[in-house]
Amino acid sequence: MSVTGESDTSTRSRKSKKPASKPSRATKSDISISKASQALGALVTDIDLSKDFSDSEIATLRDAFNTHGLLLFRDQDISPEAHVAFSKRFGELEHHVLNDALLEGLPEIYILSNLKKNGKRVGRAGAGHYWHSDLSYMAHPSLGSLLRSIEVPEVGGDTMFANLAVAYDALSEPMKEFLEGLEAEHSFANVQKRVVSLGLNKPLTPEQLAQTPSVVHPLVREHPETGRKSLFLSPGFTTGIVGMTNEESAAILEFLADHASQPRFVYRHAWKPNDVVFWDNRTLMHYAINDYDYENDRRHMHRTTIRGERAH
Ligand code: SIN
Repeated sequence: MSVTGESDTSTRSRKSKKPASKPSRATKSDISISKASQALGALVTDIDLSKDFSDSEIATLRDAFNTHGLLLFRDQDISPEAHVAFSKRFGELEHHVLNDALLEGLPEIYILSNLKKNGKRVGRAGAGHYWHSDLSYMAHPSLGSLLRSIEVPEVGGDTMFANLAVAYDALSEPMKEFLEGLEAEHSFANVQKRVVSLGLNKPLTPEQLAQTPSVVHPLVREHPETGRKSLFLSPGFTTGIVGMTNEESAAILEFLADHASQPRFVYRHAWKPNDVVFWDNRTLMHYAINDYDYENDRRHMHRTTIRGERAH
């Protein structure tokens, strides 16, 4: 049996439900922010993301975002337009290169989904089943992503987030000195080949390949707003360290990925419908766990992706 379109109902997924009515405008004092885990993240409550926020409210949220690396908003039964409008308060939005996974009429929304409609995939399947930082394969890697869950499996389909600043701090001084100045190559075509071989996606078109040439970024970067140093790891997209042999590069990258994904640096998010998770791609990497039944469970999400600046 194959999974069908959005309008179908299923007993095997939890689906968005309209929440109780909310106040028409969140004021600064309404919003409350509390730590979500030791590693990273904060839960933001008493907030409705479809409302019009003042500049000072956005500044409060941005400050919390920079401090915690991830903000979790529950019960956000908002429209795609409201999702886009809220995201735009934090920067310019990307139109993902996989243009057939974009929401019709609203290309800022990238659909991550295992659903099919009339036998055709409604969005990008097989996304992010590996550690990565969104759009690290672009010259301007993403600042942050806002992912909204519409349908999620009863069990499974969690996303893990690892704090690469805390992982950097935990390295020895000689290791930090060794990494300083090293650069790694990132490539979208690299991961896309794997997803295509699993039958989940079409190969990139010549136009899409031309839009995503390999790029090089430092292995250690500084957060442009806080100045804090972190590893810049995106194992799913990284092909090697510049100037090293394949063996040297693989050993170092594997050590760093293992180091940074230790449970003490990780927050694991178990999705409920209408969660919005807003994470900082400049300081975190994440991994979408594909432990659910891809054919029969339903996992359907909308993501906006904020453009970042060059990594330094
Ligand atoms: C992604 O944004 O890379 C996918 C995350 C997810 O589906 O949980």
